[in-house]
Amino acid sequence: MNKQTKIDFIDLVHSIISNFIDENYGDIKSISSVPDPDTLSKEIDFTLGNKHSLDQMKGFIHQYLDYSIKTGNIHFYNQLFSGFSTLGYTGDAIVAATNASMYTYEMSPVATLMENELIKKMCQLIGYDNGGGTFVTGGSNGNFLALLAARHKQNPDSKIEGLFNQRRLVGFVSKDSHYSMLKAANQSGIGLNNIIQIPVDSDGKMRLDYLESNIEKVKSKDDIPFFVAATAGTTVRGAYDSINEIGDLCEYHNIWLHIDGSWGGGVLFSSKHQHLMSGLEKSDSFTWCAHKILGVPIICSMTMLKDKTILKTINEVSGTDYLFHDDGHMDLGRLSLQCGRRVDVLKLWLFWKYYGDSDLEKQIDRLFDLASYAKKKVVDSPILGLVPPVEFLNICFQIKPKNIPDENLNSFNILVRNQLIKEKGIMVNYAKIGENTCIRLITTNLDLQKTHIDLFFESLHAVVDELLS
Ligand SMILES: Cc1ncc(COP(=O)(O)O)c(C=O)c1O
Repeated sequence: MNKQTKIDFIDLVHSIISNFIDENYGDIKSISSVPDPDTLSKEIDFTLGNKHSLDQMKGFIHQYLDYSIKTGNIHFYNQLFSGFSTLGYTGDAIVAATNASMYTYEMSPVATLMENELIKKMCQLIGYDNGGGTFVTGGSNGNFLALLAARHKQNPDSKIEGLFNQRRLVGFVSKDSHYSMLKAANQSGIGLNNIIQIPVDSDGKMRLDYLESNIEKVKSKDDIPFFVAATAGTTVRGAYDSINEIGDLCEYHNIWLHIDGSWGGGVLFSSKHQHLMSGLEKSDSFTWCAHKILGVPIICSMTMLKDKTILKTINEVSGTDYLFHDDGHMDLGRLSLQCGRRVDVLKLWLFWKYYGDSDLEKQIDRLFDLASYAKKKVVDSPILGLVPPVEFLNICFQIKPKNIPDENLNSFNILVRNQLIKEKGIMVNYAKIGENTCIRLITTNLDLQKTHIDLFFESLHAVVDELLS
């Protein structure tokens, strides 16, 4: 492809993308319904082999966009992210165009300093005076990195010798913690059987009494309790575990405390709401995903550690001379689980630089206000049952009209949810809380207004009325 053809094609694609954003994002159109795989397979030629012209490639790009779920649309409430970030998009486009890798300073000089600054700022906010950290490929990997660091702190020999013939290391998470903690147990060699899932209370928070008694039980067997992960904003209910109290317990028993703030960690930016994570400075590590609450494009996650030396120690191996030519300080690849690593910092740095701390705080506070507004809508409705409390941006409720028998409520909630997508172009998710299937509404789109929430509930009630008529 010659240079002019490249530029012409990129111009064309930019205009296709601008049109896509114009037509589908904001509140003008509904999200697409989810196409079934048979339809997609008929519509799009997925096979690889034959050559195609650029004109045909344009056709494939249109098809991709047409059938994509419009996550930037205001009516997309389905995941923990929603909306379109202009600066986030810009950052990612620049990253693709410049195609650097974060492993060495000489490959990514500007991004290296940006990442250093961002991690420093995060450590200050958390209260890690000599902390450090790294960008990771998502909250799950951030949690894995934290578990690995905790394993190393407890048993530094495990890096060389593995965990064979050692005293058993046991970790603790809550039953409502994200499933990535269990995956991390496997990845780190701790093993699923050595992660105890502590029950939660009626508010969805880790039960301290159970945590304490299980720590004691582990000790009495001469096993080693070495890791507790508290969640700041659980995936389904948005609950915050009691970091202060858990922190004291961990300090007493000399246990690594990780905070999975992948979803709810953004309250750090709000003086009004950061009390939800009070005691955070007692933790040893903290994971946060800017691609969730701030809506910058996926992935934009980081893990910070109180003791910055540990990151380097766990990641340092031989055979890296071909890559790292620095004096040991500037190449961030030394701190990373990966070799090649995408520049994820730029999109967040641009976003933060533009809004500044104060607007960031205002945005977070506004999302909380919208969550309260939505909660009131639920409480005021005679057919909706709230799952209290609403601590963060997750509003969970069950639709329970009088004439639907209890045993049919779970399937009825799923039916309403699916009809909302099909008929109203509004996409919201559902999840089980205990035995009840509930709607999980997430107010994380930074462009969301009260009128959109009004429309959400009007549409939901209309669908319920239709199904009951
Ligand atoms: C609390 C929590 N932790 C971790 C994760 C995993 O994050 P990621 O999808 O970026 O791996 C999620 C995802 O929703 C989450 O809610």
